[in-house]
Amino acid sequence: MAKTRTTFLCRECGNTQPKWMGKCPDCGAWDALERFSEAPALADAALPPGALDVGARTDGAPRRAVALADVKPLDVPRVPTGIPELDRVLGGGFVPGAVVLIGGDPGIGKSTLLLQSAARLADRGGRVLYASSEESAAQVKMRADRLDGAGGPVRGGNLLLLAEANVAVIAEETRRLKPQLLVVDSIQLAYRGDVDAVPGSVTQLRRTCLDLVALAKTSGIAVAIVGHVTKEGDLAGPKLLEHLVDVVLAFEGDRHHAYRVVRGMKNRFGSTAEVGLFEMTGAGLAEVEEATLAPDAVPAAPGTSTAAARRPGSVFAPVQCGTRVLLAEIQALTATGFLGAAKRRASGLDAARLAMLIAVLEKHGGLRLGDQDVYASALGGLRVTEPAVDLAVALAIAGAFHERGAGAATVALGELALSGDVRTVRQLDQRVQTAVRRGARLLLVPAAQVAVARAAAGGAEVVPVAHVRDAIDHLA
Ligand code: TYD
Ligand code: MG
Repeated sequence: MAKTRTTFLCRECGNTQPKWMGKCPDCGAWDALERFSEAPALADAALPPGALDVGARTDGAPRRAVALADVKPLDVPRVPTGIPELDRVLGGGFVPGAVVLIGGDPGIGKSTLLLQSAARLADRGGRVLYASSEESAAQVKMRADRLDGAGGPVRGGNLLLLAEANVAVIAEETRRLKPQLLVVDSIQLAYRGDVDAVPGSVTQLRRTCLDLVALAKTSGIAVAIVGHVTKEGDLAGPKLLEHLVDVVLAFEGDRHHAYRVVRGMKNRFGSTAEVGLFEMTGAGLAEVEEATLAPDAVPAAPGTSTAAARRPGSVFAPVQCGTRVLLAEIQALTATGFLGAAKRRASGLDAARLAMLIAVLEKHGGLRLGDQDVYASALGGLRVTEPAVDLAVALAIAGAFHERGAGAATVALGELALSGDVRTVRQLDQRVQTAVRRGARLLLVPAAQVAVARAAAGGAEVVPVAHVRDAIDHLA
């Protein structure tokens, strides 16, 4: 038998070192090396040659390079999950023989999402094996019963539960049952009996994940793996697993907030620009309609001039979420703090960008914010990081500071340069159309794009703004 080799593997960058060191010489991370034992040529033994390639040849013919022009397009078959918001992120559904890793904080709803999707698949006649290493079959059933009322009835026959953490047993049952989809919940507790390391250690994570990848590739079964996320927000054993699988999805959201976002981090079969929106309800995860996420920009009643109608500190901005545009409400609050120690807090927005916008407002917008605490947030649980919301954030801050409002039906669009100039945004027409459909009456747009905006705005008023000062002058 080949001798087992012991090396040390970095949790951060995934590189191996011959001996333990306090600091990884490759990525500089401290205390990140873990003992890792691997039988030599494990990958060769576990996998047939080329098994890790999608569409690999298995006929044993010598492999030759081919001209790009002669390569036949790969027709990727899909197994729709039955949950359109999840299909959207996956690029159409699970791919047979491909491995999807779903990462997220404990309690965010990973098990719920996969069980719901498994139930829908089973309902349509597909067989699903749900291997739970964290919960007993009775616990999974209890959860399934809860989901029952959600309009996604969980019926017995095609959905098979296996309360097992040993991957050899999971693989054996999978080979026997030949399901369309195998769910492994979670990889942190899965183990291989012949590996001398605790579940969740890098050695076990890598070996069990490789086994599941080999299982998927050799059997053509789609595999979904649940992974927990560390305090820092990385998948535990991050790079190790991400390299091995075909698709990585991140399940994000505030546990105190009902909204959940599934985001594609890596996808060998589709785009990573899409997001799926969900809401955690008493009966499982419900797909979110855009209208529930952001309130409509309600036009102020004619003649109202109360501060409430002007809504100082609140501005709407259409933001791009994959191929969709969602209307986000940006709110800001300024309050007197201490000169030199003023607080700046961003929630759902980029903190560094907020600091920059405050500096632009100081220098070019005539605001004195040195002793002002500034809080800015994107409502609805969305994380908005694109620069196209710069103008809306700046206007919300200026409005809060001057106690002047833009009016509830006002939408602002534009990236701010350090000079205070308003720069153009991508997909302006789509954003303007969405904003108008959702009730916007007045649109502040980059001056250079005013023609495009007018063409897309229908009857709504479009005001070109070239500089942040012009926009602030519009606050009433
Ligand atoms: P869970 O899917 O177990 O999270 P994870 O697998 O990511 O750790 O569910 C997380 C939370 O969701 C749990 O605290 C209870 C709540 N929940 C509901 O609010 N409604 C439901 O129908 C279900 C099944 C769970
Ligand atoms: Mg779980």
